[in-house]
Amino acid sequence: MGKYLELLNREKMPHHVAVIMDGNGRWAQKRGMPRLFGHRQGVETVERVVRACVKLGIAQLTIYAFSTENWKRPQEEVAGLMRLLVEYFDKKTDQLNEEGVRIQVIGDVEALSDLARQSIARAEEKTKNNDRLGLNIAINYGGRAEIVRAVKRIARQVQDGVVAPDDIDDEMISQQLYTKEFADPDLMIRTGGEMRISNFLIWQLSYAELWFTETYWPDFDIETLAQAVYAYQNRDRRFGGLKS
Ligand code: FPP
Repeated sequence: MGKYLELLNREKMPHHVAVIMDGNGRWAQKRGMPRLFGHRQGVETVERVVRACVKLGIAQLTIYAFSTENWKRPQEEVAGLMRLLVEYFDKKTDQLNEEGVRIQVIGDVEALSDLARQSIARAEEKTKNNDRLGLNIAINYGGRAEIVRAVKRIARQVQDGVVAPDDIDDEMISQQLYTKEFADPDLMIRTGGEMRISNFLIWQLSYAELWFTETYWPDFDIETLAQAVYAYQNRDRRFGGLKS
C-alpha cells in the first residue's frame, strides 16, 4: 500500500471530488504518439479513479471530459473524444452498474450527436437507482454557460410573476444548475501542471480546496489521489469564518 493511502483518515474523506483531467495530449506527445492515444489512456485512468473512489468511500466524483471550449480543437480530435465517450458509456455501463455507480452527465447535451445523446440516456437510465458513487461527467460543459442558463431560467420565472427579484438567493441559483442534486465539491484536483479553473464548476467550487499536480492524467493513480485527499484532510477549512 502506498504511503499516502496508508496515511488517510477514513473518517474525513471528502464527500465530493471534482477533477480536471489535463495532460493527455502531452503524455502522448512525449511518447511520439498522437494526442488521441493519450485520451484513450485517460479513459483507463478514469476507470482506475472510479474504482479508487468506491474503495475510499468518496460519494461523488465529477470529471471534466469535454468543455464548451473544446470544440475549437481539430475536428479529428473532437470526433475522437466523442467516440471515446460513447464507447465508454456503451461498454462500461453494465460493469459500473454492478459496482453501484450512478452515471450522470452535466452540460449542454442537446448539442451532441443523436448517437452520443442516446448512449448517455441509456447509461443514466440504467444506473439511476445506484448510490455507492455518483459519477458525474461534464460534457459540453462550461461554468459561465451554466450560470447564463440559470439566470435565464430565473428571469423567466420573474417575468411570469412566480419569483420576486428580492427572493433570488444562492440556493435558488444552485437549484437551476446542472449540479442541483449534488453538494458542492470539497476538493478539486487538476492534473497536468496548469494552475487554473478553466471554466469548470465556477459557482460550485467557491469553497473547495484546490490541489494541483504536475502528473499527467494518464499517469494519475490511486496513490496520487490519496496524496490529494491527504492534503485536503490537512487543510484548515474555515468557509470564511474563524479557526474553530
Ligand atoms: C485534457 O487534456 C483532457 C481533455 C480535454 C479530455 C479528457 C477526456 C478523457 C480523459 C477521456 C474521456 C473521458 C471519459 C469520461 C471516458 P489535454 O488534451 O488538454 O492535454 P494537454 O494539455 O497535454 O494537451
